[in-house]
Amino acid sequence: MAPVQDNIHPIFHRLLQRSDKEQLLKQTAKVIWLTGLSGSGKSTIAEALEKELHKMGFLTMLLDGDNIRTGINNNLSFSAEDRIENIRRISEVSKLFLNCGIITINCFVSPTNEIRALAKSIIGEADFLEVYVNAPLEVCEARDVKGLYAKARKGLIPDFTGITAPFEAPEHPALEIPTDKLEIQEGVQRLMDFILPIISNQ
Ligand code: ADX
Repeated sequence: MAPVQDNIHPIFHRLLQRSDKEQLLKQTAKVIWLTGLSGSGKSTIAEALEKELHKMGFLTMLLDGDNIRTGINNNLSFSAEDRIENIRRISEVSKLFLNCGIITINCFVSPTNEIRALAKSIIGEADFLEVYVNAPLEVCEARDVKGLYAKARKGLIPDFTGITAPFEAPEHPALEIPTDKLEIQEGVQRLMDFILPIISNQ
């Protein structure tokens, strides 16, 4: 039997284009991809960034690991294989928002170079802005905002990033935010300074 894909006839070319949407919204769409350990501050920074951008009139979408894993990805675990599927789906969803002209802010541990390379290849290199929200493991563990590190140390959570599963620091992030050295507002400002010239349009 012929592969299923042989019988699929996409109509992308007939649809309104991303540039049409960007013109309407007066912005340039990008995916801002925050990677870092659990507790590094990704969501906190992303939430503040989104509110600032919204106030300035930008249309945004925030995708967050804990949220996505209660919905579209609620059937996925934290095994290496499922993390890849998690990021693959998220990247495809991000691309839909991107093609709608929306500034998409993603907060996912996305722990390995392979996983982030997958995201970049799906989203497209020019539209994928990798931001490393960097705090040492000891700092994230001391914060333990969700109490997950304590549980992981007790052996109650398998494959916990930084404890029993790997985290590879990004090699060439577009921006790094060291949350152990900066106040939250300073980190957000650094991200704003980086992103505004890129997304502003007209
Ligand atoms: S990813 O590795 O697949 O990119 P994702 O960002 O979706 O992870 O989800 C991470 C969030 O799930 C963390 O912020 C944490 O709250 C929660 N979590 C639960 N179990 C784990 C685990 N084993 N490893 C990492 N995070 C976990």
